Amino acid sequence: MSRKNKTLGEYIIENQASFKYTSGELSRLINSIRLAAKVVNHEVNKAGLVDIIGTAGDTNIQGEDQQKLDVYANEKFIQTLTNRNIVCGIASEEEDDFISINSQDENNQNKYVVLIDPLDGSSNIDVNVSVGTIFSIYRRITPVGTPVRIEDFLQKGNEQVAAGYIVYGTSTMLVYTTGHGVNGFTLNPAIGTFYLSHPDMQFPKDGNIYSVNEGNYIHFPQGVKNYIKYCQMEEEDRPYTSRYIGSLVSDFHRNMIKGGIYMYPKSSKNSNGKLRLLYECNPMAFLAEQAKGKASDGFTRILDLEPIELHQRVPFFCGSKNMVEKAEEFMQKNP
Ligand code: AHG
Ligand code: MN
Ligand code: MN
Repeated sequence: MSRKNKTLGEYIIENQASFKYTSGELSRLINSIRLAAKVVNHEVNKAGLVDIIGTAGDTNIQGEDQQKLDVYANEKFIQTLTNRNIVCGIASEEEDDFISINSQDENNQNKYVVLIDPLDGSSNIDVNVSVGTIFSIYRRITPVGTPVRIEDFLQKGNEQVAAGYIVYGTSTMLVYTTGHGVNGFTLNPAIGTFYLSHPDMQFPKDGNIYSVNEGNYIHFPQGVKNYIKYCQMEEEDRPYTSRYIGSLVSDFHRNMIKGGIYMYPKSSKNSNGKLRLLYECNPMAFLAEQAKGKASDGFTRILDLEPIELHQRVPFFCGSKNMVEKAEEFMQKNP
C-alpha cells in the first residue's frame, strides 16, 4: 500500500472490496469516468488551437449559452457511461430531462444512475482558466430491468455511493470518494495514466481563504454581508484573503488543499443562488464531508435536503468546518 507510483486503475481494483456493493460494477463505472476524463482533457487542452471555443449557438434549459466544449464534454461522458451496461440513467446540466438507458430491455441489469455537470466553469473556457467536470452516483431505487424514473435521480445527497470531479488545470486531476475518504489522482499526459498523487485529502479545519463573487455583494442577505465584513476586518486572529476563480471545481479544490470557504448565497436577484443541488452541490458536499469539511445552504446540511426537481438550485456554503460554521452563525442571525 505504501508504494508511491500507484495508478488509479490499481487503486480501484485494490479498494473494490471496501465498496458497499462489491460486484465490481462501481469499479467499472469509475473506470469509464476515468476514460471520459482523458478524452475531454485532450479536447480541453486543444481549446486554443482548434475551432472549438466560443458558443455552440444553443441555450440549455436554464437559458445559458452552451459552449462548444460543454456540448462536447456532455456527449463524451454520456457515450462513455452508456456503453458499459452499468448505468441505467443519466441526468446532466446540459440535458433538459434525464436520459434512460436500455429502458425497454427486460434483461437490463444496470443499477446505477449518474448525474453530471460535464463542464463546470464554462465562462472560463475561452480564457485558458481551469474548468472541471462534476459527477454524482446513486443506486437506482426503482426495480432493476424497468425504465428509470425521476425518483431514481431525486435522491437525497446522503444516498450517494460515489462522487467526484475532474479539474482540468495546470495539471489534470481526478478526485473522488466512495465514502471512504477522498483521494486525488494526477494525469501523466505523456502516457495517459492517472497516478495517486493526493491520498486522503482533507480540508484544514480552519482556513484563511473566502471565495465568493463579491460583484453580487449588494444583493446578498445581511448575514453574508456581515460574514464578508468579518473576514475583511483587520484583527490579529483574522488573516483572511479572497480568491475566486469562478469555476466551482477549481475553487473547491484549492480550498480543500489550503483551507477556505466557498460561498454562492441566495441574493435579491436569485432566491436560491445559482448552483444546482443534484450535480454540483450534492457531489461537492459528499466530497467535503468525506474530507472532514462541511457543506450547507446556510442553515441545513446539503446532504439532508430533499430534492424536488432535476435542475433545482440551492445556496451553497462549503469548505473548512470552522469557517462554514462561522458563516452559518452569521446567516442565522441575519437570514
Ligand atoms: P457552469 O459553468 O457549470 O454553469 O457552472 C458555473 C458555476 C460555478 O462553477 C461557478 O463557481 C459559478 O457558476 C460562477 O458564477 P458567477 O459567474 O455568477 O460568479
Ligand atoms: Mn457548474
Ligand atoms: Mn456546466
